Amino acid sequence: MTATIIQQKYEIKDISLAPQGKQRIEWAGREMPVLRQIQDRFAQEKPFAGLRLVACCHITTETAHLAIALKNGGADAILIASNPLSTQDDVAASLVADYGIPVFAFRGEDAATYERHVQTALDYKPNIIVDDGCDVVATIVKERQHQLADLIGTTEETTTGIVRLQAMFKAGVLTFPAMNVNDADTKHFFDNRYGTGQSTLDGIIRATNVLLAGKNIVVAGYGWCGKGTALRARGLGANVIVTEIDPIRAIEAVMDGFRVMPMEAAAAEGDIFITVTGNKHVIREEHFAVMKNGAMVCNSGHFDIEIDLKALASQAKEIKEVRNFTQEYRLNNGKSVVVLGEGRLINLAAAEGHPSAVMDMSFANQALACEYLVQNKGKLTPGIHSIPEVVDREIARLKLEAMGIKIDSLTAAQTEYINSWTSGT
Ligand code: NAD
Ligand code: ADE
Repeated sequence: MTATIIQQKYEIKDISLAPQGKQRIEWAGREMPVLRQIQDRFAQEKPFAGLRLVACCHITTETAHLAIALKNGGADAILIASNPLSTQDDVAASLVADYGIPVFAFRGEDAATYERHVQTALDYKPNIIVDDGCDVVATIVKERQHQLADLIGTTEETTTGIVRLQAMFKAGVLTFPAMNVNDADTKHFFDNRYGTGQSTLDGIIRATNVLLAGKNIVVAGYGWCGKGTALRARGLGANVIVTEIDPIRAIEAVMDGFRVMPMEAAAAEGDIFITVTGNKHVIREEHFAVMKNGAMVCNSGHFDIEIDLKALASQAKEIKEVRNFTQEYRLNNGKSVVVLGEGRLINLAAAEGHPSAVMDMSFANQALACEYLVQNKGKLTPGIHSIPEVVDREIARLKLEAMGIKIDSLTAAQTEYINSWTSGT
């Protein structure tokens, strides 16, 4: 594998922000005991020695700990952002200044810069890609087939990325192994549900400072993220309405005690709308038209396509910034609709993303998935691979241990009983 010369060492907003970033990274580490153990082991064992690794993630204090783990493991690692609005510039500065990890990301980068950074990442000729949303992987497949010989494999963080990988596999273009981090139990049970649940409401509160108690909050999508968001919104005293397209998930929402109805009906009732579907145009022209004056809309799904902002803009006579992360669209019908975080992931745009305690498990999965790819280099078939169950359970075991929680184990008689078919009534 040939060495690559990077023209530029990093591209961040302001290196002088490093001291604040370092302080925040260290604070996050307190809640990431599992990943910190992996950092220590990797520093001894160097599983990535001699390998180039690109991570396309939200640049947060938690991602910093993943990057440190990979670097401790001997990887020549660089970071780019997986979303233009999610980069924490102080963290990017500290990663460069204090940890020697090149970062090409700054908060508010435009689409052209975002795409340029994806190209920068690929100029690095990665052996491993850690992706969040599949943008880097989709680009190498579309534009740089000649680099696939260098690629050992990839890991994918989020539901939307997995959906894209599945489409690539169906189309016959996924010619390398991709580790499905999202579907590990220690990832989506906690990150997508409790992480998105808390941080989405955190984002709405930081953006608006509105009281949620007594508000009608419409949650579009009752998957892992939707369940967590609805649960936490109810906990804050909101009346939660769920919209779905899947009949089973809709029944779950009903039996969890939420009102379920089509968006067409929910649009007229909601005070705050949150989309978490991974789908496009879930809130669109006909819905904006019937919303209450001052209704707020935001998104916590991966891409900024869930709310049709173009359609909203076409109904608006004025768009005005009324607060940080908060734009009021004054509509031709005399009412206004307030958009939070430009329709991008509100938990990362207006807040700090998931709390460190859940990212501990998500990124433990990422780090161990990278190690698994290297340990099984040349042996894994092209396609999507689950995180091995032993790895998933070991992460859970370490997390419980760090939380100081003990659980029961099977007695010999119980083990025998559950493995037997002969004893019945
Ligand atoms: P999921 O597949 O578990 O749930 C999505 C749900 O949306 C499904 O139940 C589906 O039936 C429903 N849905 C699809 N189209 C719909 C429509 N038009 N109207 C109503 N419901 C619809 O996925 P998930 O794990 O909950 O992830 C959802 C999105 O959130 C993805 O884009 C994912 O990548 C993203 N995500 C964001 C964060 C974050 O930090 N904000 C974290 C994890 C995942
Ligand atoms: N996705 C959601 N929250 C995150 C966080 N805190 N860091 C990195 N990626 C995230």
